[in-house]
Amino acid sequence: MKKIVILGGGGFIGGHLGKRLKKEGYHVRICDIKKHEYFQHSEICDEFIVGDLTDPSVVKLVIEDGVDEVYQLAADMGGALYIFTGQHDADVMHNSATINLNVARECVLKKVGKVFYSSSACMYPEHNQLDPDNPNCEESSAYPANPDSEYGWEKLFSERLFLSYNRNYNLDVRIARFHNIFGPQGTWEGGKEKSPAAMCRKVAEENNNGNIEVWGNGKQTRSFLYIDECIEAVLRLMDSDFKYPVNIGSEEMVSINELAQMAIDISQKELSIMNLEGEEFYAKYGFKCPLGVKGRNSHNKLYKEKVGWEVSQPLIIGMQKTYQWVSEQVLKRKEAISI
Ligand code: NAD
Ligand code: GDD
Repeated sequence: MKKIVILGGGGFIGGHLGKRLKKEGYHVRICDIKKHEYFQHSEICDEFIVGDLTDPSVVKLVIEDGVDEVYQLAADMGGALYIFTGQHDADVMHNSATINLNVARECVLKKVGKVFYSSSACMYPEHNQLDPDNPNCEESSAYPANPDSEYGWEKLFSERLFLSYNRNYNLDVRIARFHNIFGPQGTWEGGKEKSPAAMCRKVAEENNNGNIEVWGNGKQTRSFLYIDECIEAVLRLMDSDFKYPVNIGSEEMVSINELAQMAIDISQKELSIMNLEGEEFYAKYGFKCPLGVKGRNSHNKLYKEKVGWEVSQPLIIGMQKTYQWVSEQVLKRKEAISI
């Protein structure tokens, strides 16, 4: 039986990955600094180790001799509010880089069969994402580098770290640049949530006088990939022999106001979008509106060429499932407060 280690498996993507690999009959060990909030551990793994991967002794313990595959998903990360205000830059860079430095070396020492590293579309240069209608996120556009966040710079550094271990120590690596992955069992409140979950929550809460607050002018664009297709794409990449960074995302680009309207339409509620930006945002929150790049879309030509598969599920299908799950969480929270 293949032995799999998922680092960061107490989080959104790692939890879903564990569920899929366990179902397929593999032995799955997870390590995360916290337990999974939404999955039973028996659903996603055989062993769950609570530990801090910035500590090399934890990484030594978790990655044993004889491990076939390591999926490195642990990172200090979040949505726009977490990565674009600048308030967490030092922690994000220190924590994520330390985890990656520990993990890459340990994988070589323990002769791990293959390693997956989760990079991000945030590593692409800001200057290619200024036009919301025509962003360029082709893999070949990565250099000269100019990410718009320290989170993106750390991802770029760690891509290069894993590639260096591949060149110098023959570590067999696969690297994906994820473009905004969403779905149930992900962060939906608390400040680390990304726009799809945030829009679903705001619509489900409906506590703003019939208005849904959307940051910025709402014309900024993104694409969103549903979690099941993300997991399929990761496993197919692992089975391929392509070792260089490649996008995993959807090419269905929408504006953030279109995303918000989609959540409203799914709910069938009578709600309006209220865009909040500039001085008005500052007056309410006391910091600059966290916007990130003006436009971003996945570019999937390289993945199709090298892996031979493509994602195809329309955004609306994933948003329907996500809205359903997030509205259940909102209801549960309300019931818990009223007890
Ligand atoms: P997540 O925050 O839900 O999962 C990351 C997990 O890492 C968390 O459970 C967290 O507790 C764990 N972690 C953080 N620091 C740790 C430490 N010191 N020791 C042990 N565990 C630690 O995020 P996710 O959405 O599942 O993302 C997984 C990976 O994919 C991350 O590397 C992220 O940067 C990358 N990524 C995600 C997206 C997305 O849209 N979800 C987009 C681009 C890249
Ligand atoms: N999170 C959030 N919440 N974003 C909002 C909201 C809201 O209520 N209202 C509007 N937005 C806007 C943000 O200002 C930003 O312009 C856009 O929606 C997208 O925000 P996010 O979904 O939070 O993040 P992102 O797409 O900029 O970056 C995410 O994707 C990257 C990969 O593509 C993050 O999750 C990164 O960590 C990730 O690497």
